[in-house]
This record gives sequence, C-alpha cells and structure tokens, in this order.
Amino acid sequence: MTRAISLHDVSKTYARGVRVVDRLSLDIAPGEFLVLLGPSGCGKSTVLRMIAGLEEITDGRLLLDGEYGNDLLPSERSMAMVFQNFALYPNMTTRGNIGFPLRVEAPQADPGPRVDATARMLGIEDLLDRFPAQLSGGERQRVAMGRAIARHPTAFLMDEPLSNLDAKLRNHLRAEITKLTRELGVTTIYVTHDQSEAMSLGDRVAVLRGGVLQQVDTPRAVYALPRNVFVAAFIGTPRINLLRGLVRAPLDGAMTISLGKQFLRLPEPLSLDHQLLRVQQGREVIVGLRSEAVRIAKPASARPGEVLLTGLVEHVEFQGHEVLVHFNTGSQPAVVPDLEAPRPGARPAGRRRRDGTVLNRLKERAGALRAGPVAVMDEPGVARPAAGPAVAAPDGRLPGDLIVRTTPDIDLRHGMQVPLLVDLAHLFVFDQHGDRICPAPARLPDLEE
Ligand SMILES: Nc1ncnc2c1ncn2[C@@H]1O[C@H](COP(=O)(O)OP(=O)(O)O)[C@@H](O)[C@H]1O
Ligand SMILES: [Mg+2]
Repeated sequence: MTRAISLHDVSKTYARGVRVVDRLSLDIAPGEFLVLLGPSGCGKSTVLRMIAGLEEITDGRLLLDGEYGNDLLPSERSMAMVFQNFALYPNMTTRGNIGFPLRVEAPQADPGPRVDATARMLGIEDLLDRFPAQLSGGERQRVAMGRAIARHPTAFLMDEPLSNLDAKLRNHLRAEITKLTRELGVTTIYVTHDQSEAMSLGDRVAVLRGGVLQQVDTPRAVYALPRNVFVAAFIGTPRINLLRGLVRAPLDGAMTISLGKQFLRLPEPLSLDHQLLRVQQGREVIVGLRSEAVRIAKPASARPGEVLLTGLVEHVEFQGHEVLVHFNTGSQPAVVPDLEAPRPGARPAGRRRRDGTVLNRLKERAGALRAGPVAVMDEPGVARPAAGPAVAAPDGRLPGDLIVRTTPDIDLRHGMQVPLLVDLAHLFVFDQHGDRICPAPARLPDLEE
C-alpha cells in the first residue's frame, strides 16, 4: 500500500550542463510525510519529477521499497502527483476528472464506487456534476486531490499544491491534507518554498539550496539546531537576526563577541557550547539571535545568562497581537545569499540589486551556482541588511540591525534608546563558512543507541 522511497547520490543535469540537483541522498520511510523545502529554483520540482519518473535521473539511484527504480515508467510506480495549477480537464465534470485515471488503468471496471467513496472522503459529493469552471480554486484543488486519492497510490507527490490559493483556504486545506494523508497512511513528499507550511506539515523537513541538501530533520530540530546559517535564516518568522561578530578570548579575561560598537560578554564559567568558541579567537563569526532570544527589559531585571545591549529604535512595525521593533545596535548584518523565497514583506528582488556592489553580485551568483558559501562577509560599509519582514527605508536599506518581538502595550517610538536583554542560552554562532559552531554541531550520541 505504502512504500519506502530512497534517493542515493541522485544528481540531475539538464541539457546545457548545469547541475540543478547535486548528489542528493534521502531515505523516506513508508507512511512518512516529508516536506522538501527551499527557495524558488533550488531544484524541488526536479527532485519530485525524478521520483515520479517524469524526469530522467542523470546520476545516482532511486530505490522504491529497496528495489532499483530509475528505469520504471511513471505508470509502473503507482504514485500520484498533485500540482500547483490543479490541471483538471475543463470539459469533464468532477466525476469525470476523478474517474479518469481509473478508466485509463482499468477500462473494463466501473469507476463509480471509487469516485463516490473519494468524494465522500473529501466532502465534495455535491460537486460531482460540476465542471471545473463552476468550481472555486479550493474546490478545484479538492478535485485534484480526489483524482490522486482515487487511484489508491502508494505515494503522493505534491508540488506546491496550495500556492495558488488565498491564505485562509491554504490553512484550511493544509489541515485537511495532513489529516487525509495520515488516515491513508501513504508516503507523501510535499514540495513548498513556504517555510511555515513546511514546519506545520512535515514529519521531517528536507532543506534544499541550489540543488544541495542542507539538512533533513524534524521541524523542531531544523529550527532549534539549524546546521548552517542558511537553514537558520530560511526557517522562522521573523527571520533570525544575523550580525557580524568578532570573538575575543583573552587568556586572562572574559570571552566576548564584539558586535561592532557593543559586545556580548559570555558568562563564566563558560557553558560547554560557549567553550567551543575559544578556538575562534580573533576570527569573524556570525551571531544569530532569534527574536525570542532578546527582550526589552530593565537591566536590573536581567536573569542569569542574560547580558545587556542598548538599541536605538529605528522603526516600529505594529502587527496587532505583537509588535516588531527594529533596533540599531551599531552592528553589521551578515548577508546570506539565495534566500530568495518570496516571503510576506520581503524586499522586492529588484530593489536589492541596486545597492549590491558588483563584487557582491558575483559572490551571490557564484553561491547560487555552486551552492558554495552559505554566508558572505561583506566589506564593512557595503554590507546589505538581510532581507526580513521589514519595511524598506526611503534609501532602500532596511532600518536597524536587530528585530525584536514585543507586546503592543510597550510604547516605543523612533529615536528612543532602549535596554535589550540577550539570553545567551539562545545564542547561535556560525563560522565564516556559515556552519554552526554553537550550539555544538554534534550532540554526543546516546550510548544506548
Ligand atoms: N527542463 C529544464 N531544462 C533546463 N533547466 C531546467 C528545466 N527545468 C528546470 N530547470 C532549471 O532547474 C533549476 C531547478 O528548477 P526546479 O526544480 O523547477 O526548481 P524549484 O521547483 O525548486 O523552483 C532551475 O534553475 C530551473 O531553471
Ligand atoms: Mg517548483
């Protein structure tokens, strides 16, 4: 009924020689719901189409239930694909659309009972005699799902199936898809560029950048222990604050991370994670602070492990239940290339180009092709602020270098100096290549395993 899908070092090269998927290895367990997440153009659809048999695998092996599957025809794989643009036959009713693949597979059999059962499961019995033009977007996507389900496939391959729907419907159908695939217990690979969708749906999330797998883990783990700065920046809203830092670890004094005009003093005795920073003495690092790591509070109220920064309010973004405050702390934001996925409030791509130097653009392009460095250390003064859920200032730059989430009852205005308490238990530090140093990259393996 359901199947294991494995990719071993799978690569894809299109005609002109560009490798768009690079040695991808993934093991998907029977019944698992795996989300393939990454910015637009990173190769997600290509991976899905190779699994479906719609695209040839250039290198590597596809195993279906442990058996070599590269050369199987799509029809021999009994997987069902659901696309973003529904792809219903306009001249067929819902009944005709859902029944169509059944009639192709078994021309003698009556598809009626299966179509009815599927329609019941999806709550679309009333729509069976309507044509696609008489259906709303959400209804059409239900019919497309129905067509996939009716065949009793061994796996679902879904390629951004909800992208064309409005936010409310998307949330609703998201919940339905989760419920349905769990009930059916069918292995599902779900492609999206939307990190919040990935986090809410997946048993595991595989993050792809420029055709290269960055990390595959539970949503909780990719958020809490991102392997590199790209994953850290791609996942989470508001986007993690990424600041350029310099580690100072004098033999006779406290270890600090300088953030330009201010510094973070690491509390003694150093935690195991912070001890790992000692070897970075004198080196540039990237400091990552998620919004929950920073709070606006009086210095006197600092808890153990919290240190003080001062922020100048640059911009206040009212969001109803919460407020995002953009502070200037005098630090330089670190730049992460390829974070192109359209996100609400993200700066338009055309705007970003304007203030990038030629060198930066070349670096960005190189990164995109080779999926090379996950972070770019710009020269001071030309660093562009990381694109985040912020409003661009008139000169095209984002105001501030640190975004903090707070409650609407605190009255903050532009130009105020505010004390910020940073919880160092939530401190992320990445090295110059963007790999995570802190928290420790590898937790000690459980001895009982
Ligand atoms: N048939 C094709 N021929 C050549 N290049 C392609 C083809 N299909 C996709 N590409 C390229 O491969 C890369 C990955 O595309 P795709 O898998 O569609 O990405 P995603 O689904 O993540 O947006 C893109 O750079 C795209 O332009
Ligand atoms: Mg795609």
